[in-house]
Amino acid sequence: MIVDENRIKQMKEERDAIIIAHNYQLPEVQRIADFVGDSLELSKIAKDSKASVIVFAGVRFMAETAKILSPEKKILLPVKSAGCPMADQISAEDVRELRKAYPEAAFVAYVNTTAEVKAGVDICCTSSNAIKIVNSLNEKKIVFLPDKNLAYWVSLHSKKEIIPYDGFCYVHNRFGKEEVLKMREKYPDAEILVHPESPSDVIESADFILSTSGILKRAKESNKKTFIIGTEFGLIYRLEKENPDKEFYSLGSPKICFNMKKTTQKDIFDSLLYNRYEIILSEEIIKKAKKSIERMFEI
Ligand code: 13P
Ligand code: SF4
Repeated sequence: MIVDENRIKQMKEERDAIIIAHNYQLPEVQRIADFVGDSLELSKIAKDSKASVIVFAGVRFMAETAKILSPEKKILLPVKSAGCPMADQISAEDVRELRKAYPEAAFVAYVNTTAEVKAGVDICCTSSNAIKIVNSLNEKKIVFLPDKNLAYWVSLHSKKEIIPYDGFCYVHNRFGKEEVLKMREKYPDAEILVHPESPSDVIESADFILSTSGILKRAKESNKKTFIIGTEFGLIYRLEKENPDKEFYSLGSPKICFNMKKTTQKDIFDSLLYNRYEIILSEEIIKKAKKSIERMFEI
């Protein structure tokens, strides 16, 4: 639902707020955001921003990450139920059990996890730095959670023994190798850019495996004119906007993350007006989770 954009701007100034949005957000939300980016970029912006209020148009784990990095700021998630089903596939209790089973391993958590899970691991990573993070560790054995597909992508680029958790993203896991083969036949000159949350056979058959902002960067730099995009459909809005002379097609049928589409301009306006929904985490969880995220930033 669209709101007068000047009213949002005015409200933002009154509240000393910024709006940050993930690359999958609705076009109406991306339009009013101060920054649009991938998980790593947005967590850096949240950390470095001087604003007192950050409205996070994304899903809960992203807003929680912002809170962990900037506990003094008010972090608002405009739609309470906007979660990431993959992040809910593993609990802090599951991590404690795994620690007992693999005492010698380093534990790496994708940022798509709850704050409690981040608090129980050694280090976090995002889709854009996962390989670098894993290879930087001293341990030979790595428990990588929760995404088995991202774990597979990392294992192709590492000599470490990667023990994957059995999680996955229900959106990306729907891509299939048949779709890659079909699109290659239909668009033989196209470049196929895929997110590492996709299944292993899609990872093996695509041209580049990249985070959402990595896909944006590659599309801009490549001299190809046609691209097949293997990630959530929302990214195509930004790809088309930033590359009007190029063509973008979804890898097979468009795959939608419904939680990423829940936030509207009206939700953002109400979020600023009513201070909702504030991310609250205990001091202990913030302290422990911060260590895992800051260790990632150091690398
Ligand atoms: P990026 O960090 O690549 O933006 O990915 C986040 C995500 O949730 C992908 O589904
Ligand atoms: Fe989570 Fe997948 Fe949606 Fe990303 S696309 S937020 S991993 S459910």
